[in-house]
Amino acid sequence: MNKVRFVNPQLQYQNFKTEILAKVDDVFSRGDLIMRKDLTDFEDAVAKFVGVKYAIGVNSGTDALSLAMEACGIGQGDEVITVGHTFMASISAPYHVGAKAVLIDVGADYDMNVAQIEAAITPNTKAIEPVQLNGRMCNMQAIMDIAKKHNLIVIEDAAQALGSKVKMADGTWKMAGSIGDAGCFSMYPFKVLGGFGDAGILTTNNDEIAHKVKLLRFNGESREDRKFYYHGYTALLDNLQAALLSIKFKHLPKWLERRREIANRYLNGMKDIAGLALPHYGDDDTHYDIYQNYVIRTPKRDELVAFLNTNGVETMISWDTPMYHQPVMMPNSISLPETEAICKEVISLPMFPELTDEEVDYVIAKVREFFHV
Ligand SMILES: Cc1ncc(COP(=O)(O)O)c(C=O)c1O
Repeated sequence: MNKVRFVNPQLQYQNFKTEILAKVDDVFSRGDLIMRKDLTDFEDAVAKFVGVKYAIGVNSGTDALSLAMEACGIGQGDEVITVGHTFMASISAPYHVGAKAVLIDVGADYDMNVAQIEAAITPNTKAIEPVQLNGRMCNMQAIMDIAKKHNLIVIEDAAQALGSKVKMADGTWKMAGSIGDAGCFSMYPFKVLGGFGDAGILTTNNDEIAHKVKLLRFNGESREDRKFYYHGYTALLDNLQAALLSIKFKHLPKWLERRREIANRYLNGMKDIAGLALPHYGDDDTHYDIYQNYVIRTPKRDELVAFLNTNGVETMISWDTPMYHQPVMMPNSISLPETEAICKEVISLPMFPELTDEEVDYVIAKVREFFHV
């Protein structure tokens, strides 16, 4: 085995090259560059898939989050409860609208520890921003119950969770991005639906939020009367990008199933290794995880990373430093024990739908070799 890549966008391009290049030619030949049918078709397909009234294409997951904050009326002096173990964009979004992110810890599944939410609520709290990390949904029933009790907005950071589902108390399965007031997805190239550069989408069932986001992403201008209603942004998803994402989107359900198959192969190959925690929680009856990342955990993380890399297995660490220790967040006195332990112990293994069983087995064999089992 030469090398097992962590992700492989080039291979996916090769597999769809003819269709992609024909679509580029088609879109350019039509001159359909900004807000044309390719965009609305893609948005309609995503809305249907997620099970919401609106899906609105934007520049990036970060923009989706910031626009969601603004469209939900979050602003100066407000507080938004989110987690310490996430990408900086989740934390930056409240600051973009003049609010403050209040960070709580995560649980053993890397998602928001819902038991800590109520203690973090103050008179300034306006919203909860759960992060559906690694393609696994938070305990959304508990989050929605707390939000309802305290009259709080819920903005789902579903950047890593397109297609992930959770079962609610009434027995219905709900998709990421369909439960809170707004859902925010990233189509950054390495995501389950990876674009050709930055891209994002915001989902909502709320007419007012949808209307405002549609204007905000387009410099505040209404397409109907050409009047400017907000001080907006240039944050539209490109028509070409949407056209190309539509090609890939048709394959997403199959790709998610393949990710789950790979995850199961990792599970069967490594579940007997003492001292290694795998991302399986025995709750398939309530969670449909899509493994945006396959995160394993061990106190011997740094040695394991070195061993795997020496043996040609690419890995990634998300993240080795809590976001609240980054320069932009300093100084502060935040201390989240689980987040800090995770930063020392996690490693993400190769995970993309084109990975072969042989490659997965090679990774498993190398992990086993490291642990002498
Ligand atoms: C949890 C989370 N939130 C937000 C984002 C931001 O998305 P984007 O990179 O598209 O701006 C990401 C992307 O990596 C993410 O992983």
